[in-house]
Amino acid sequence: MTLKPIGTIRTPFPVNRGVPIQSSMSDAIGTVEIDKEYVDGLESLDEFSHVILIYWFHRAQTTRLRVKPYLDEKPHGVFATRAPARPNRIGLSIVELIKIDGTEIVFRGADMVDGTPLIDIKPFVPEFDNRLNATSGWLAEHLAAGSGPTLSDGRFETERAEQPKRFS
Ligand SMILES: C[S@@+](CC[C@H](N)C(=O)[O-])C[C@H]1O[C@@H](n2cnc3c(N)ncnc32)[C@H](O)[C@@H]1O
Repeated sequence: MTLKPIGTIRTPFPVNRGVPIQSSMSDAIGTVEIDKEYVDGLESLDEFSHVILIYWFHRAQTTRLRVKPYLDEKPHGVFATRAPARPNRIGLSIVELIKIDGTEIVFRGADMVDGTPLIDIKPFVPEFDNRLNATSGWLAEHLAAGSGPTLSDGRFETERAEQPKRFS
């Protein structure tokens, strides 16, 4: 399987430290620069208030099957977390669409490092994506308490950024 980025996400966060830990906790404005060859695929996307950005955690280089996430002192299986240290470094953020101007998409809710390679965009559709009976597992008590950090401390950062044009 080979993935080819369709663009680049630009954000105010040059390094991993100080990045919001979720898009729902972020008011930061970001832009997506879509590669010209994909611009026709943006038609009608501006009809949606929110979009799902799927991207590659290009600065995460270690895979850990058990991680200590930001919102708990205890480790959890990586698939029970949103940590970047996953076998396939796929990140997913639901962000508010502000505008689309040619190859540039402006959004609110950035929780990515500047330069993050974008893999895909999908419209967020409440009728498809909302789950009114969903539960939050180990996160529930931490979110209810409203405690815990909202910004990353760089624990998943590496010194050397991966800049693949193609990755598999
Ligand atoms: C906990 S993850 C959640 C990301 C996404 N909303 C998700 O659920 O897949 C967010 C953190 O990932 C880290 N991060 C963001 N962009 C990254 C990148 N390109 N490479 C490595 N880590 C990144 C930052 O520390 C940020 O605070």
